[in-house]
Amino acid sequence: MTQREPTSDQADNDKSARGHGKGHVVVRPAKAGELPAIRRLIGLYPDELVQDELPRISSFFVAEREGSIIGCCALQVYSRRLAEVRSLAIHPDFRGKGLAARLVDACRRRGIERRVRQLFAVTSEPGFFEGCGFTVHTGWKTAVFANLDGDP
Ligand SMILES: CC(C)(COP(=O)(O)OP(=O)(O)OC[C@H]1O[C@@H](n2cnc3c(N)ncnc32)[C@H](O)[C@@H]1OP(=O)(O)O)[C@@H](O)C(=O)NCCC(=O)NCCS
Repeated sequence: MTQREPTSDQADNDKSARGHGKGHVVVRPAKAGELPAIRRLIGLYPDELVQDELPRISSFFVAEREGSIIGCCALQVYSRRLAEVRSLAIHPDFRGKGLAARLVDACRRRGIERRVRQLFAVTSEPGFFEGCGFTVHTGWKTAVFANLDGDP
């Protein structure tokens, strides 16, 4: 019998268990009870991120450093065809260290495990997502929006 491949979540936990030390940042699935910390982090960016209806805690990954949550990102799976990377935030003190890229990669690997065919993100930071392998879509499908709040 062949040994089961670890899931990406297990692989992240294994890596973190090996390398845990002062200042070390672990990227892992969020745990029950961590939604308030995630909400506080997202609340630092009221202009960029809406937090009225956050994804379920099981959709989130977090970046944790010395017991504090300093980054978060969720993968909301809509169908086998499509999932959304959303609620991505890194604490201002820890930006520019590759943490957002690690969180998006965790989402990407979860999407692959769940056999989702395509990820998308609605973002004010397309340059960041392009660096993560996303393309601004100008092909045969285009995202279309309708404002319901009276704004042009
Ligand atoms: C955007 C944000 C998530 C980036 O987090 P971060 O941890 O600083 O990003 P990383 O360090 O992982 O960056 C990875 C790469 O993307 C690049 N990058 C980061 N932000 C970028 C941006 N706004 N535009 C273009 N490239 C960007 C980095 O230079 C880095 O490039 P490199 O690999 O060549 O060095 C963070 O600034 C943030 O929390 N912003 C406020 C909330 C927000 O806007 N969320 C996204 C909306 S969905």
